[in-house]
Amino acid sequence: MKKLIELKNITKSFDEQIILDDFNLYINENEFITLVGPSGCGKTTLLRIIGGFENTDEGHVVFDNQDITKLAPNDRQINTVFQKYALFPHLNVYDNIAFGLRLKKRDEQEINELVKWSLKLVNLSNYEQRDIDRLSGGQQQRVAIARAIVNKPKVLLLDEPLGALDLKLRQNMQYELKELQKKLHITFVFVTHDQEEALSMSDTVVVMNNGQIQQIGTPEDIYNEPKNRFVANFIGESNIIPGKYLGNKLVEFENAIFECVDTNFKENELCDVVIRPEDFDVVNLENAKIKGIVTDKVFKGVHYELCLDVNNKEYIIHTYEDAQIGSTIGLNVDAFEIHLMKVNSLENA
Ligand SMILES: Nc1ncnc2c1ncn2[C@@H]1O[C@H](COP(=O)(O)OP(=O)(O)OP(=O)(O)O)[C@@H](O)[C@H]1O
Ligand SMILES: [Mg+2]
Repeated sequence: MKKLIELKNITKSFDEQIILDDFNLYINENEFITLVGPSGCGKTTLLRIIGGFENTDEGHVVFDNQDITKLAPNDRQINTVFQKYALFPHLNVYDNIAFGLRLKKRDEQEINELVKWSLKLVNLSNYEQRDIDRLSGGQQQRVAIARAIVNKPKVLLLDEPLGALDLKLRQNMQYELKELQKKLHITFVFVTHDQEEALSMSDTVVVMNNGQIQQIGTPEDIYNEPKNRFVANFIGESNIIPGKYLGNKLVEFENAIFECVDTNFKENELCDVVIRPEDFDVVNLENAKIKGIVTDKVFKGVHYELCLDVNNKEYIIHTYEDAQIGSTIGLNVDAFEIHLMKVNSLENA
């Protein structure tokens, strides 16, 4: 895989507040990479720096081994779909998409071919003459994407492109965007604060908080092996329980000893034990290593979500079986469902 974009030691402040702090990241050719993190963590700012709409205080943006830090947006082989679509309301679909090409003085014949090509890719052929305000939210989104791909950039930056759509449409568009990326063979840098969207669409997920990277990895890595408390909490629900590594793939928590698969801990080192809600097994009380009192429950369609009180700590578990509020239930966990985190990883959270 070839590195296409490198962000090197990027620092950016607004009003003396540091928004990006010595940020380093590389993005490969043809990669679908997603930046995910809470509101205000710097995602849009980072995208604007890659697109050339924002300067850096320090650091460099490198594209295909060339320093493009000072290059104007129009001179970059990068296009953006903004958080708000920013379509021209007084122009129809065709003219919206043709706009940038006309500025570049491309001839009308070529523009016509390109506009038709891009509309076909977003499934909007036959909408050329439609006014923007007579399109649904999802259709406007497609026009914004068509406008961004029409001059065949090497990189498409997408800033929460699906944020305004309802759930069903959002899921369809997630699928379509993924297909589009495969067809176009270009790099997508996608921004969302929806962790599920990040996991389902990406080759690589970058979890950000406070202008810093908390973890980079495949969706599976990020979900199964969160590096710290922030990632474990942000990406899906987690139970984080204080424990002690005993050595020899054994860990103690809730006054019981469990087998685990982690080994990079010293004997008797304190650790945080992460267990996903769906990874507990509900078992008979006599066989249970953990016992909890059901304090709340919600039916979620396929499963029940139960809140439990376990030794004065709140657990969240998912189970297919109903349980009465106030009853005591027993839990076990398999070794490979137990993930240990370093306690000092708290510092970043
Ligand atoms: N032009 C600006 N002037 C001053 N502060 C700014 C400017 N642009 C962004 N900020 C601040 O920088 C921080 C990061 O903003 P940014 O838009 O990058 O966040 P974000 O991660 O995209 O958030 P969201 O998920 O809400 O879109 C915020 O605190 C924001 O208020
Ligand atoms: Mg943003």
